[in-house]
Amino acid sequence: MENIAFKAMVVTETADNQFIRAIRDKRIEDLPAGEVLIRVRYSSLNFKDALSASGNKGVTRKYPHTPGIDAAGLVVESSDPAFKSGAQVLVTGYDLGMNTSGGYEAYIRVPAAWVVPLPAGLSLRESMMYGTAGFTAALSCYKLINLGVTPDQGPVLVTGATGGVGSIAVAILAQSGYTVVAVTTKLDQAPYLLQLGAKEVISVADADDQSGRPLLKPRWAGAVDTVGGNILSTAIKTTRRGGIVTCCGNVTSGELHTSIYPFILNGVSLVGIDSATTPMAHRLEVWNKLAGDWKLDHLETITTELPGLEALDERIELILQGKNRGRAIVKISD
Ligand SMILES: NC(=O)c1ccc[n+]([C@@H]2O[C@H](COP(=O)([O-])OP(=O)(O)OC[C@H]3O[C@@H](n4cnc5c(N)ncnc54)[C@H](OP(=O)(O)O)[C@@H]3O)[C@@H](O)[C@H]2O)c1
Repeated sequence: MENIAFKAMVVTETADNQFIRAIRDKRIEDLPAGEVLIRVRYSSLNFKDALSASGNKGVTRKYPHTPGIDAAGLVVESSDPAFKSGAQVLVTGYDLGMNTSGGYEAYIRVPAAWVVPLPAGLSLRESMMYGTAGFTAALSCYKLINLGVTPDQGPVLVTGATGGVGSIAVAILAQSGYTVVAVTTKLDQAPYLLQLGAKEVISVADADDQSGRPLLKPRWAGAVDTVGGNILSTAIKTTRRGGIVTCCGNVTSGELHTSIYPFILNGVSLVGIDSATTPMAHRLEVWNKLAGDWKLDHLETITTELPGLEALDERIELILQGKNRGRAIVKISD
């Protein structure tokens, strides 16, 4: 592949520790080593991208850096025979966009072990409508369902419901026959959540217990939490006997203060979700579900398509302010 120039978002750190985002030219030779070179058609915007793009060293240690933890496109060349030139593929997680140059540029080069063949039933664009957020929502729902929460056991709770992970979790669970109660800081977005299939929308105040009591009246057969902190702690103590609570996010806090009583008196299980390092066999299984029986009727409702890299800035700020709704994808190249 010749050393052509292409556009990339580049985040740089200034001498006074400010972080500046700009659209710059990069070249193929600037990309990291890896077996598979991919021309990126679409990427997407996740909470972690907003952190990487704003200088969060817990996500990205070294700048200059190109964020983008998701990418979907065509294989240009591969030293691994499993991937033929022209094949449609996607990459989410692993180290992409963290300390490996990410999807906000026209080409990425990655290890073959990170590459997922595009599942039948999804376009490249649709795969990024899910992206890491949708994959994480699906992993959370998969756990809830496979660990035994059934629709007849009662309502399930989704927190951070208008966010990327939350929106897709609401829609998957509703489409799978569960009675979904959505918690949101944005009650004005109740019509959106009801459209995704939520049966009820409640305010954060109703899901953020301040009593300090170790157990509360059981309300949920299970919960998908995306925000952490006291909202997660409240979800755990309001989950009924034998229920499952999944935990993937730290939007409100990385802290979790709880007692052991929900676990030893009610047999509640807390299940951690780590999408980035999901083993390939399970990764393929869950992507196939997203392309198959979990394929959402509401993908377009959930998604905003940004016209190009320049448009990412505004959306990054929305995420950092907790004001994001749904998913944003960005067209990177034709
Ligand atoms: N473990 C993993 O593998 C994994 C993968 C993907 C994402 N995540 C994590 O999951 C979380 C959500 O990611 P995302 O992409 O869905 O982010 P997002 O689109 O920015 O959504 C986050 C949502 O959290 C809610 N929120 C924001 N501030 C809040 C506050 N102060 N109190 C209560 N709720 C608040 C908001 O929804 P409402 O207004 O509707 O409440 C917001 O839209 C992040 O922490 C992210 O890092 C983890």
